[in-house]
Amino acid sequence: MNSTPPLSRSYERLVQLVADDVGNAAAVSWAHATAVAHHGVRHGLVAASEAPASPDAVRRVLDELAGAHPALSGFLDPQAVPLWSAPLNTTSWTALAEFWEAGAAVHDGPHRVDGYRLGDAYQALSRDARRSRALCQTPPWIAELLLELSLEPATDEVGPQNVRMIDPACGTGHILLSAFHFARVYRRRGRGTGALPGTQASIERALQTVRGVDLDPYAALLARYRLLATSAAILHSRIDQLPPSWPAHVACANSLLARDEPLLAPGQYHCVVGNPPYITVADARQRDLIRKAYPRVAAGKFPLALPFCELMFSLAVPGGHVAQLTSNAFMKREFGRRFVTEYLPQFDMQWVIDTSGAYIPGHGTPTVILCHRVRPPQGDTVITVRGVRGEPTIPTDPARGKVWSAIAEAVRYRLAENRLKKALAQRDNIA
Ligand SMILES: C[S@@+](CC[C@H](N)C(=O)[O-])C[C@H]1O[C@@H](n2cnc3c(N)ncnc32)[C@H](O)[C@@H]1O
Repeated sequence: MNSTPPLSRSYERLVQLVADDVGNAAAVSWAHATAVAHHGVRHGLVAASEAPASPDAVRRVLDELAGAHPALSGFLDPQAVPLWSAPLNTTSWTALAEFWEAGAAVHDGPHRVDGYRLGDAYQALSRDARRSRALCQTPPWIAELLLELSLEPATDEVGPQNVRMIDPACGTGHILLSAFHFARVYRRRGRGTGALPGTQASIERALQTVRGVDLDPYAALLARYRLLATSAAILHSRIDQLPPSWPAHVACANSLLARDEPLLAPGQYHCVVGNPPYITVADARQRDLIRKAYPRVAAGKFPLALPFCELMFSLAVPGGHVAQLTSNAFMKREFGRRFVTEYLPQFDMQWVIDTSGAYIPGHGTPTVILCHRVRPPQGDTVITVRGVRGEPTIPTDPARGKVWSAIAEAVRYRLAENRLKKALAQRDNIA
């Protein structure tokens, strides 16, 4: 099935055009920062009220964002935002301005306030992020199901004030934003007890709930921006009017090896969710380091999905919920044998959902959803959703593809049934 996102080619043409002037990394940076500047202005998140009409105007918006909240200071960091060390010529600026202004209806970069389109635009613009780090956005309809399988039961168990979740390969934050929305409205869906929190309190609580880490400094910065932009938009305010104490807990680090990153300290999350990279690491030294750190799962030319699975389990509290959309290659190839027969059986597997037949934009690799609780297996039931056939054609709206709809319906039906059984059992215990 075709895995090239439909708009990728026009984004790549734009980058090529600008790259002749400033080089590839700065071209991606200029192209994306221009979309961020439009986003900030269009949604009233910054003081500037005019759409950026020059490279200097883009830089001014970034400068303002960097000062608007401590979590956004990275907008001034040339490592994350290489445009600071590469001035743009007029021809390149004209191409960029036309792309985002004239083509806004098509490219949609700055439109959605929670930045889903900005995240997708970064993936489409940056070949390096796609090829070297496997950036591949998790569509919101998948993120939502992953969270229903993990964050929802975790929140039911420990309460919305206490629950903590992390995505240790969070990219630009698609899963984080879905988790933020989930955490913010949890009590409004009639769950839990006590008074409904006010809008401010629910935003602050949602920001405290979600955490993320990514190797890519710009993706991590964008995830922070999206969390704060969404918070400000809900309050109809600018980002600099948010309390500076409100967090955007997203760090830039190599999650597999950064032992000193506080967000990656083991055993602190009730819920760990991810769509980790499936690639193998090209650099032999890095591969050796990861193999040494994860000897139980990383053998031969292992794909990163396996050490990421072990990392995700290690981040959870005992009994914590872990849900991952991952490559199913380990189920079919030799490198997965030990993983399947020795490693996974140590944990309480809840769900195996075959998503290999579903059309997931950008995901050329066949996938599976695995859900575990981090504790020894309890009972002998694992719920499986088995694939029968793939999508007959590429669906116009992938969220409503025949295969995905059937999967989502089957899972939600079972979840509802489980909730009902639990409620009836509780009622019987009380009576
Ligand atoms: C499939 S994407 C994840 C998408 C994201 N979960 C979302 O919600 O859209 C994989 C991500 O893993 C990141 N990554 C790759 N290797 C990593 C590592 N060693 N540590 C942390 N992040 C890594 C990439 O930068 C990329 O953003």
